[in-house]
Amino acid sequence: MPTFDLVIKGGEVITASDRSHADVGIKDGVITALGADLNDAARTIDATGLWVMPGGIDSHVHIAQYSGEGIVMADDFESATAAAASGGNTLVMPFALQRRGTSLRQTVTDYHALATGNCHVDVSFHLIISDATPAILGQELPALVKDGYTSFKVFMTYDDLVLDDRSLLEVMAVAKREKALVMIHAEGYDNIRYLIDQHEGAGKTQPYYHATTRPDIVEREAVHRAISHAQLIGVPLMVVHVSSAAAMEQIEWAQQRGMKVLAETCPQYLTLTADDLKGLNMDITGAKYVCSPPPRTTTDQAAIWGGLERGVFTTFSSDHCPFRYESSEGKLNPKARTSFRWVPNGIPGIETRLPILFSEGVSKGRLTPQQFVALSSTNHAKTYGLYPKKGAIAPGADADLALWDPTRQETITQSKLHHGSDYTPWEGFDVTGWPVMTLVRGEVVANDGKIVGAKGHGSHIGRGAPQAVA
Ligand code: URP
Ligand code: ZN
Ligand code: ZN
Repeated sequence: MPTFDLVIKGGEVITASDRSHADVGIKDGVITALGADLNDAARTIDATGLWVMPGGIDSHVHIAQYSGEGIVMADDFESATAAAASGGNTLVMPFALQRRGTSLRQTVTDYHALATGNCHVDVSFHLIISDATPAILGQELPALVKDGYTSFKVFMTYDDLVLDDRSLLEVMAVAKREKALVMIHAEGYDNIRYLIDQHEGAGKTQPYYHATTRPDIVEREAVHRAISHAQLIGVPLMVVHVSSAAAMEQIEWAQQRGMKVLAETCPQYLTLTADDLKGLNMDITGAKYVCSPPPRTTTDQAAIWGGLERGVFTTFSSDHCPFRYESSEGKLNPKARTSFRWVPNGIPGIETRLPILFSEGVSKGRLTPQQFVALSSTNHAKTYGLYPKKGAIAPGADADLALWDPTRQETITQSKLHHGSDYTPWEGFDVTGWPVMTLVRGEVVANDGKIVGAKGHGSHIGRGAPQAVA
């Protein structure tokens, strides 16, 4: 019996803290050795010239999620996780979204039914709480946290998801008691509704006005309010999809005062601007870029890069939320043609997150390779209670690996991607650095853009306490 099922030979191993040339020995899906000249293996993969990194963990994706009457998300679990695998990811964290009036436990059961047997990479669900009733907060939520669903997202906007301030405080109090992490969508509901009514009254209905009805003031105010609530309760907070310098300043302000405020940002806030929502000529094609918060300005992009470099941000996620463009169930649903208000919010990005961060960050010298690993994998595992089983290259960790060619040049284009959307917001975007092979628990799941093996290798992973609350 050989010592190893698989040895990855000759690569440069990059972790969140180190880089060194080493072979990686794998047995039963787990890393069992790191070192020179590991040889007694049933199989070897030659990684000469490649970087061997922990597989990407994308801790903010939406898959097969209910999105409103007549609106259908473009990905199911099979297509989303195939795209994730091809993009160098080994675990994604989608949301089990509770619809008002329904049980949270039943919601989780329903999402598992959609995912089970269909995934190419591992998944681990967060919860979305839209109905903060005493029964949900008193019984269902604590029981689900004990079962390993140790993070939940709450919203300060959207008609069918918004929680009022009292409910936000109640949710945070449960998180404190149960040792779970609250993720907050911070945009102010009433400010946005006021601005939408003003815009529509003035006939401003094109997709571009999605951006001007959600200005950075709206995000900044909500971030400050959410931080204040968390401070009052005495609980850590994760502010997701931070888009603006103004919002980031609030987070840094809190961090400098010793508050446990974590932050996430996404590729759209480094590479797109509100002008992309103008489309080809202030037309409906701008709907392709409608997401919330909206992309902002190049000044905001520079500020967010600064935040990534000096550690304001813990995680870099995609906020993959895919809709088809040419579809009456997607961006071009009949009502969306009348106003930006009805364009489903969200853009696809599960497959392009890592190449964009690698290219714009590492290849352009803004981030070290180790920072890239931390922002794309290790910090996600630590933040959400998966570390060191996930997000690490060390004996005892799952053999979840991405092999990267750091010099390969590619142009992002829809025909190369595996997601269910019919477009990518990054069409024609040139990158340097590309994931050439992805392994989940020692099995190759993607090889040079091809999905290897049948769906179903990906499993649901329950979680322990997030690092910030442990
Ligand atoms: O526009 C976005 N981001 N859609 C996804 C839902 C969310 O708020 O993350
Ligand atoms: Zn959100
Ligand atoms: Zn999201």
